Amino acid sequence: MSPPLILVNLKTYKEGMGTRAHAIATAAQMVAQESGVTIAIAPSYIDLHPIARHFMIPVYAQHVDGSGPGAHTGQVTAEAIKVAGANGSLVNHSERRLTLADIEASVRALQAQKLVAVICSNNEITSAAAAALVPEYVAIEPPELIGSGISVSKANPEIIERSVAVVRRVNPKVGVLTGAGIQSGECVKIARDLGTDGVLLASSVVKAQEPLLVLRDLVSKL
Ligand code: G3P
Repeated sequence: MSPPLILVNLKTYKEGMGTRAHAIATAAQMVAQESGVTIAIAPSYIDLHPIARHFMIPVYAQHVDGSGPGAHTGQVTAEAIKVAGANGSLVNHSERRLTLADIEASVRALQAQKLVAVICSNNEITSAAAAALVPEYVAIEPPELIGSGISVSKANPEIIERSVAVVRRVNPKVGVLTGAGIQSGECVKIARDLGTDGVLLASSVVKAQEPLLVLRDLVSKL
């Protein structure tokens, strides 16, 4: 099993923008240094460049388009996020769904820039399709639990188990993350014990009064 990744998506929460994004990144970097666990954050595009420049932790985009540089207006290219300092990107998040062809184009664009691709999926079937595209990670998140405060680790551990199995069957080199409602060290430990390579989460950290305390708890059982 590879070392765990804790990936915190700041989404477009107002509690995850500007100075608050910097405060979360400061806490994430501190806990990563204390614990030795890799903690990455996915800020908005606006905050991506300053955060990537100010902090040592890995920074991800929340979405990337598959188009290359050139005459495309309003697209966010893999080249652009790389120049801004990103290590990789989420692709096909539940809140930013793409077609299969678009997912493939985004993954190929990331890989051409040697950036990490995290394809999000909502069930075992899409996890299998995602794994066939050979990203670095597939992140399984049951949409009904996203932002619910109910942890996938506790409410639906079976989907984690089945997704790990299906991804491993399609390509054992593809890592598996899980997310939705992850909020404590116990949730992370269950996810790890079920065979994942880490977790993808948002609200429990971004909306916390003290993100530092939540982040310390998240790594406490690893
Ligand atoms: O990208 C992470 C996400 O969709 C899970 O959100 O708030 O349930 O941790 P949350």
